[in-house]
Amino acid sequence: DAPTPTPAWRPLVHFTPRQHWINDPNGLVQVGEVYHLFYQHNPQGRDHANMSWGHATSRDLLGWQEHDVALPGREAHAIFSGSAVVDTHNTSGLGQSGDASPPVVALYTGAGHYWQAQYLAYSRDAGETWQFGPEQPVLDEGRADFRDPKVFWHGPSGRWVKAVVYPDERQVALYGSPDLHVWTPLSVFGPAGETGGIWEVPDLFPLTDETGQEHWVLKVDVFAGGPQGGTGAQYFVGDFDGAVFTPRGPARWADYGKDFYAAITWSGTPGRCLWTAWQSSWDYATRLPTHPWRGALTLARELGLRRDPDGGLWLTQLPLQELDRLRGRRTPLHLTPDSPATLPLPAGRALDLDLRLAPGTVLTLRLTSVAGDELTLRADRAGGTLTLERPARGLLADVAGFGGVHTAPLPPAIERDLDLRLVLDTSSVELFAGGGLLALSDLLFPAAAPDTLRLSVDGGGATGEAWTLRPAVPSPGE
Ligand code: FRU
Repeated sequence: DAPTPTPAWRPLVHFTPRQHWINDPNGLVQVGEVYHLFYQHNPQGRDHANMSWGHATSRDLLGWQEHDVALPGREAHAIFSGSAVVDTHNTSGLGQSGDASPPVVALYTGAGHYWQAQYLAYSRDAGETWQFGPEQPVLDEGRADFRDPKVFWHGPSGRWVKAVVYPDERQVALYGSPDLHVWTPLSVFGPAGETGGIWEVPDLFPLTDETGQEHWVLKVDVFAGGPQGGTGAQYFVGDFDGAVFTPRGPARWADYGKDFYAAITWSGTPGRCLWTAWQSSWDYATRLPTHPWRGALTLARELGLRRDPDGGLWLTQLPLQELDRLRGRRTPLHLTPDSPATLPLPAGRALDLDLRLAPGTVLTLRLTSVAGDELTLRADRAGGTLTLERPARGLLADVAGFGGVHTAPLPPAIERDLDLRLVLDTSSVELFAGGGLLALSDLLFPAAAPDTLRLSVDGGGATGEAWTLRPAVPSPGE
């Protein structure tokens, strides 16, 4: 039976492939003015099969042009997750004299039958077209599970560094290379933090705190034991000396929703650090009711680090600045206990909401349809919690793990006033609190399309604004 198309669920500002299955973002890399997005993709169907790297480009990380599949699944192995870098000095030797740009090199996992190893592919035309590299893997330890290479250039040691997971061991292995071909082991991190489920999709990257001091963040996903049960993303902040990552402080959750997985940072984005995740969960990804596509990516998020009063370091995440350009009609909001607000929400609309909550405020946000409440968000400044309730009804009523109450503790570094940013995009919400100290991404497939947003406060008050968001479109020439 051909599923019924669901155009009303197509996000306006989040990436979805034209059709078929998508999971992890792969090979996120800026080449010149162009952002290249690759992703785990089944070019033939709506399930996780025939794994290949789909390909899309953008000039603003919002409007995407989809291209031919860059790395199609092979006879011998599927193309699993990985990353890409611009090899500016042609250390790989894959560039040739006369090429208009340095080679762009991708490292991905070849997934065979009870066997996974890391392979190389490359582009000699700035990421536009791709070819497979050597037939042999560049890193093979004869393991059944060994995947998701994330590569970056480490200036101080003058070499490439790659993080790869040993999923079953709950470990991230680091390797070094002068040329992206020959990899030697540097160290192994873990098990640490959450170890109840296998580990997947590691990333290791530097970030500066508000004083300008550099720290390193190691992110790794867990298949079980996430903040709302099931899949999740944990991170550690610490030091990296070019060989060994040493955490300082505990594991924390990068996102408190159910739908944030397999995030990796963008390579080659000068002066800013961004990451994008798959906006879904393995708990129910194969049950999502959308057609002709299945799956979406989160917004690209700007990353930073902030110190709490005890010196602990926290990741901050906010929607990419470029999103502001899509803001349309603005509605100012002044909420007091006596004056709630009701905003109409025409079908297929995306909304960007920015609110500041006075101390002692309990804010309730309800998204309602003719069928009733479809989502309830409660931000309790005094109680120190943020709660999003996604009812177990609607299109995924019978899917285990979809309905639930997702509670997150407000981090101690949150200032006197609490700011809340919410991006609602047809079938998802991404929520950011306290300057991005807390993030929460949840999909949404209500019983009926929500038509009203109600905001009310108990105690205190809140002010802010809501904008409608215009659909993202690729820029001309893309
Ligand atoms: C994470 C993951 C990766 C793997 C890919 C396969 O969602 O399981 O570990 O490389 O998806 O599609």
